[in-house]
Amino acid sequence: MTLRLGVVLPTYNERGNLRSMVDRLDKALAGIGWEVIVVDDNSPDGTADEARTLAQEDARVRVIQRIGRRGLSSAAIEGMCATAAPVVAVMDADHQHDPDLLPQMLAAVESGDYDLAYASRFAEGASTEAWGRPDRVKASNLANRIANKVTGVELTDPMSGYFMLPTQTLRADAHRLSGVGFKILLDILATVERPLKVKEFPLNFAARAEGESKLDRTVIFEFLVGLYDKWLGRWIPTRFALFGTIGGLGVVVHMAVLAVVLNLFGADFLVSHYPKEVAFIAGQTTAALVAMTFNFVLNNELTYADKRLRGFGPLMTGWARFALTCAFGLLANIGAATALVRLGFHAYPAALVGIVLGSVWNFALSSKFVWGKY
Ligand code: GDD
Ligand code: MN
Repeated sequence: MTLRLGVVLPTYNERGNLRSMVDRLDKALAGIGWEVIVVDDNSPDGTADEARTLAQEDARVRVIQRIGRRGLSSAAIEGMCATAAPVVAVMDADHQHDPDLLPQMLAAVESGDYDLAYASRFAEGASTEAWGRPDRVKASNLANRIANKVTGVELTDPMSGYFMLPTQTLRADAHRLSGVGFKILLDILATVERPLKVKEFPLNFAARAEGESKLDRTVIFEFLVGLYDKWLGRWIPTRFALFGTIGGLGVVVHMAVLAVVLNLFGADFLVSHYPKEVAFIAGQTTAALVAMTFNFVLNNELTYADKRLRGFGPLMTGWARFALTCAFGLLANIGAATALVRLGFHAYPAALVGIVLGSVWNFALSSKFVWGKY
């Protein structure tokens, strides 16, 4: 049978859902040449092993196992680029997306009347009741409204994770997609310059079969980061912007801790025992350590969420390396600022240059030395 459709299933901890998903695809796509590409981010539950077991039984199942990476969008992109099928679909592996829609979507795309078909949770005739998550319905509606405003894309559900398009359309623009976050459909629609003719299919969005959602915790954060990446990311890279913002918060933390320590030392009963400098040095040191740890934790959770260090050992080594990086960053900062002041610059602009230089240094080094493949 000729290969007509590639189905991409991005997975993270979906071991229990895979076999039944492949069964459902097999039934839904009877008479159609298809393959499924499981793109797994090295799930701890062994999803990739399960996918390989299935692939040994049925060669239409293929597996991409990514090591040291995370992200729904980038997984979807890599999966879509990995099929030789002329048409490709992306859907969730947890049974929330009904595979019975695939033949109708395929007919729409193959007819040439449409450039893209997708399943909407919010179209006429769709439902989200079975999902059982009114909070997420609200969040999705809000995100959809913002997305429509910002991108001019007029769909009822541009956040949908269930869509299909000619593989060539995707391949032509794959290098321009941001690959950040989860809103891959929106990203495609906003990136492909010629307006795409889109066919919408109402979807009865089901409850997840096994396991739990990976997007619950980060969905809003990732959405905002994704928007930023699309609109300002080309001038100030998203990661650096995040790193810088967290650095700014770190300064606030530093000042707060310093104030607390100075107040403690300033308490009357201590004044006689400790000279002022000791209080300041103690405060400044504590504050720097707390602020640096705060920055390390936040960068690990947010800026480098896709390369997050886990477990006691890696976290301790990471922290130590981050501390070392920051120490050198501070030297660069002070060195540059001092040099500028000697050249006759005002103290504040000189300090600012020092801070920017130190931040760039910290960012460049920590991205390699702390969260990179070193
Ligand atoms: N490879 C990979 N890497 N796959 C991932 C990752 C990741 O980092 N995160 C999630 N996935 C996979 C999941 O295993 C699942 O198959 C699919 O992507 C969707 O993830 P869920 O965790 O089930 O998301 P959800 O149900 O909460 O979110 C739904 O709504 C979003 C919009 O609000 C989904 O339909 C999403 O596709 C949709 O974008
Ligand atoms: Mn889901």
